[in-house]
Amino acid sequence: MFPRGDQRLEDDRAPTGVGTANTQESTMTSPADLSVVEREPSPEEAQFDDLIAADSRIEPRDWMPDAYRKTLIRQISQHAHSEIIGMQPESNWITRAPSLKRKAILMAKVQDEAGHGLYLYSAAQTLGITRDEMMDQLIEGRARYSSIFNYPTPTWADMGAIGWLVDGAAICNQVPLCRASYGPYGRAMVRICKEESFHQRQGFEILLELMQGSDAQKRMAQDAVDRWYWPALQMFGPPDDQSPNSAQSMAWNIKRFSNDELRQRFVGMLVPQAEVMGVTLPDPNLRWNEERQAYDMSEIDWTEFEEVLAGRGPANAERIRRRREAHEEGAWVREAAAEYARKQAERRLAASGAVA
Ligand SMILES: [Fe+2]
Ligand SMILES: [Fe+2]
Repeated sequence: MFPRGDQRLEDDRAPTGVGTANTQESTMTSPADLSVVEREPSPEEAQFDDLIAADSRIEPRDWMPDAYRKTLIRQISQHAHSEIIGMQPESNWITRAPSLKRKAILMAKVQDEAGHGLYLYSAAQTLGITRDEMMDQLIEGRARYSSIFNYPTPTWADMGAIGWLVDGAAICNQVPLCRASYGPYGRAMVRICKEESFHQRQGFEILLELMQGSDAQKRMAQDAVDRWYWPALQMFGPPDDQSPNSAQSMAWNIKRFSNDELRQRFVGMLVPQAEVMGVTLPDPNLRWNEERQAYDMSEIDWTEFEEVLAGRGPANAERIRRRREAHEEGAWVREAAAEYARKQAERRLAASGAVA
């Protein structure tokens, strides 16, 4: 019933996902980028095109079009920011988790997300942007991250709903990225997806336990599912007919499946799991359509999504403020590390001088 990141990797036919947690922002390229394919290609362009056509990997030292590099820097850095900002709504609950076991699990999960951010910042750095530049973009509010993390987490059941729905949507989005044409990104995603499948299971298990508890616990679990369901569906980005710029990312083998395909796949995964738990997915029009072999569902209301994306969500300002504070509080660590590296380099130089 659960998608295991490592299993899905071997199932290339399964349209399990595309893009990043912030697909709607990250796969956009300007129409001008498309003109590249219409000229006579230079030898290195031809080599790049051949690698893409063969579904091979592009590595950091390979020639690549500027637009490809820029698209990846934007997508990977936004993805990294999402992992790091995504730590906040959950770290909120570490001290209040209902048992030692839950506390340990949640702490491990939040640490995993930090690790995901670090793999991804490292992958982005291979494209020529520095960690400092990316961090400045984030704390100055110039970079985007997934809007889902701008919602508050008022109850313990939110930890369950985030794991089940948000990490679940992230898995659907990210498994195909393990085959992204850019090598360092694809390889980072392999490790990330394995951990995300654990995150989804722990979220499911939190909700399952609440649904077997008191009436108040059941209500709390259902309320969290009601609040996170629609934002989780919005993580896949706008409907296909409003996402024309995905074409270039598809052509470059970064994006593999359309937003609507992924959303459909995600809902198909949720329905049987919701039945097992006994929670209701908050869509009165959700039903299996035998003819289309797909789920019919209500229109998504994008108004709120647009508001949150524009920075007017319930927790946008708070997330950035907290990130900026953490960055400032960590200045002494960066300074100490830089000083240590300087001294080591000095010692090496002195040692090589002594040998000479
Ligand atoms: Fe993650
Ligand atoms: Fe996760």
